[in-house]
Amino acid sequence: MKKLVILFLVTFSLQAMAQDALNTVCPISGKPANPNITTVYEGKTFAFAEEACRKKFEADRAASLYQQLGGKAAIDAAVDLFYTKVLVDDRVKHFFDDVNMDRQRRKQKTFLSFALGAPIKYEGKDMRTAHANLPDLNDSHFNAIAEHLKATLEELKVNQDLITKVLAVVETTRDDVLNRPKKAN
Ligand code: HEM
Repeated sequence: MKKLVILFLVTFSLQAMAQDALNTVCPISGKPANPNITTVYEGKTFAFAEEACRKKFEADRAASLYQQLGGKAAIDAAVDLFYTKVLVDDRVKHFFDDVNMDRQRRKQKTFLSFALGAPIKYEGKDMRTAHANLPDLNDSHFNAIAEHLKATLEELKVNQDLITKVLAVVETTRDDVLNRPKKAN
C-alpha cells in the first residue's frame, strides 16, 4: 500500500512538472530561451531569448483577434454556441451525423484559437485533409457555416468590426475546405 502511494505521488509530481516545464526555445526568435525573461499568458509561462522578444510576444497577443474576442473562455463559448446552430440547420447538419461532436468542438476551438492568434499549436488535420472525405461540400455549405459563425458572434455581442475581421480569417480557408485549387495571389 505504501509503495502504491509513493508511486502515485511520484507519477503525480512528474506530470505536474511536465505541465509546468518552461519552453526552452524562444517562440519569437527560435533561439534558446532564457528562463529569466518570461511572461505569463492565460496562466502559462513563456520564456524568451531576449527582452525584445518578450515585448514582441506581448504586442502580438494584444493585437490578436483571439485576445480581442476575449481569449480562451470566449472562443470556447462561441464554438459551443456555433455548433448548436449548425446541428439544427438542415442545409449542413447531415455532414455531422457520424462525427464525434465532443472531439469536433475541441478541434474547432484549437483551430480557431490558433488561426486567430493564440500562442498555441494546432496539431489537427489541415483544412484540405480534414474535409477531403466530404466531396459534396460546396459554397452554399461554406456560406451556411460562415453565417452561423457570424450569428454566434453577434449573439455574443462581439462588435461588428471584429466580426468582419474574424470572418475574413475564416474566408481564407474556403478553397482548402472545398478542396479547390488555391487561387494565385
Ligand atoms: C468555414 C470554415 C471551416 C473551418 C475553419 C473548419 C474547421 C474544421 C476543423 C478544425 C476540423 C477538425 C479537423 C481534424 O479532425 O483534425 C473539421 C472537421 C470537419 N468539418 Fe470543418 N471547417 C470548416 C467548414 C466546414 C463546412 C462548410 C462543413 C460542412 C458543412 C464542415 C464539416 C466538417 C466535418 C463533417 C468534419 C469532421 C470530419 C471527420 O471527422 O472526418 N466544415 N473542420
